[in-house]
Amino acid sequence: MTVLLITGASRGIGYACVLRALSLPDVRVFGVARSSEHLAALAETAGQPDRFAWFAGDVTDRAVCARILDECLNRFGRLDAVIQNAGTLQPIAKIADADVDAWRSLFEINFFSVLELTRLVLPELRKSKGAIVMVSSGAANYGYTAWGAYGSSKAALKHLTMTLTAEETDVTAMGLSPGRVDTEMQAVLRAEGKAAMDPSDYQSFKEAKETGQLVKPEDCARSLVALAVGGRGGSWRGFEGKWNERSVQQLAAQVFGRTQRLDMPQK
Ligand SMILES: NC(=O)c1ccc[n+]([C@@H]2O[C@H](COP(=O)([O-])OP(=O)(O)OC[C@H]3O[C@@H](n4cnc5c(N)ncnc54)[C@H](OP(=O)(O)O)[C@@H]3O)[C@@H](O)[C@H]2O)c1
Repeated sequence: MTVLLITGASRGIGYACVLRALSLPDVRVFGVARSSEHLAALAETAGQPDRFAWFAGDVTDRAVCARILDECLNRFGRLDAVIQNAGTLQPIAKIADADVDAWRSLFEINFFSVLELTRLVLPELRKSKGAIVMVSSGAANYGYTAWGAYGSSKAALKHLTMTLTAEETDVTAMGLSPGRVDTEMQAVLRAEGKAAMDPSDYQSFKEAKETGQLVKPEDCARSLVALAVGGRGGSWRGFEGKWNERSVQQLAAQVFGRTQRLDMPQK
């Protein structure tokens, strides 16, 4: 049995990860986000009350992080993997216009909550020789205009993965970029990014949506869950890569079977 904790489970990539993971018979999933109504609806859609449990809370609250681990262990008795997925893109603004408090708020979600939850789960992951997957972004390696807060938080996560790899011999830490995914985060970018983003970047994200080129959440979720369930030891330790690269797709084929398809139910 694999017990998988997924943050940001109420919509988008995290929601898709929950359903992907539950398509594997041996996996139990604990989902976390702030929106209890969305998590309750997900539980109903999943229809797996023995294999899916959830907790509604804000991961920037340290007491919530502690509670998440307690509830997960009370329910399933162990923890094998975490997908650190909760995140935000805002503030979208140039550095010259930076509101430092807004950067701090983003870092609370995208980085410090991840650090705190990682710190808390390490004893369980050492026992299970488990895995942590950080949901990264191309922005960790590229200086998009107006994405300074977001990109630097993802670059910091990348360093967290490297440091965890150096420090924790029994835990496999990895980072995966999911591509440009058709979720609410992309809708926020299209709605709020125009004024501050580079016009050609903005246009390319807009066109990707209009021409159906955004990645489907269920496709990158397949890669994230494959890493969480199957990425252990060896070259997976400290792995940083993209959702669609060959090694990840090969692992996903092993974990899910080559032909498995999953059409996501609508919320
Ligand atoms: N979409 C893309 O193109 C893209 C590209 C690269 C990387 N990513 C990364 O993928 C991850 C998921 O993004 P997404 O596109 O699925 O975004 P999304 O649709 O906006 O979903 C974000 C999720 O995070 C949760 N969340 C946000 N703040 C939280 C908090 N303080 N406490 C608990 N949960 C919180 C949200 O739930 P509640 O609001 O219910 O709390 C929601 O479930 C993020 O880390 C993002 O940076 C996305």
